[in-house]
Amino acid sequence: MKTFDSISGISRFLHPAKKQGKTIGFVATMGALHRGHLTLMQKAKNENDILVVSVFVNPLQFNNPEDLEKYPRNIEHDRMLLEEVGCDVLFNPGVKEMYPEPGSTQYDFGLLEKVMEGPSRPGHFNGVAVVVKKLFDIIRPDKAYFGEKDFQQLAIIQKLVKMENLPVQIVPCPIVRENDGLAMSSRNERLTAGKRQIAPFVYQTLKEAAKKSSTMTPDEVRLFVRNRFKDEPDFQLEYFEIADDRELQPVSNWNEAGGILGFVAASLENVRLIDNMRII
Ligand code: PAJ
Repeated sequence: MKTFDSISGISRFLHPAKKQGKTIGFVATMGALHRGHLTLMQKAKNENDILVVSVFVNPLQFNNPEDLEKYPRNIEHDRMLLEEVGCDVLFNPGVKEMYPEPGSTQYDFGLLEKVMEGPSRPGHFNGVAVVVKKLFDIIRPDKAYFGEKDFQQLAIIQKLVKMENLPVQIVPCPIVRENDGLAMSSRNERLTAGKRQIAPFVYQTLKEAAKKSSTMTPDEVRLFVRNRFKDEPDFQLEYFEIADDRELQPVSNWNEAGGILGFVAASLENVRLIDNMRII
């Protein structure tokens, strides 16, 4: 595996390969890699000549300084997993390399950023879009792989690609879960053993909500979920929403949109967990 921390270094390596007609599959990450990340990488590896992975904890997308500070970092362990998965190129730049000057583009994602993670984390999606656009410009991938675990982020990136006419195909990948249903996440590492045991409650609630959709209206399901969380004081529910799968707007009946999902964000001992599940 080749490792680069500079834009000029990785460009010098990748651009001749691209000229020779090699295809590039790209997975952007913030490190602390787990099986969720690795599944994206395996798919990217199978579908392209060269697998490029970036590991960069992007300060611009953290609206909470404590979350940025506590974000798990373990590049040596990450490197080991990347070698195992057959990663060809690791891009691991520092903050100065990615942001030599302060200030950044302001994107307008319309309705898509007005719901759920948008108001909950002001500036977050702009920070994600800025870094992903920079990474695409540097790496110039043919295909880029993103997880449905962060469904709204995936929708934002698909919109960014359309808005900016970027020459890359976005490949959505299903959520990878632990055996007990908890969606894999780098932040799960911060849960104590006791709280880790009850964390699958988020997944179980989504499953219950999806079941209830056969007998309840969306509003009744929303109320059902809020009440379920009230009975579990370890969790602070931030939002539960039932929304369409395109603009992610709340729905009031089940035949309002072709695809509908349930989305949840909740904190468990200050660790923020997000998850979602398709209902229709
Ligand atoms: P990070 O949280 O490291 O996630 C990197 C990629 O892995 C994202 O596309 C995310 O959706 C995917 N992923 C994480 N956990 C997953 C799971 N359990 N199942 C399936 N996919 C999963 O998302 C980011 O980093 C950053 O915002 C980034 C896009 C790198 C921009 O900084």
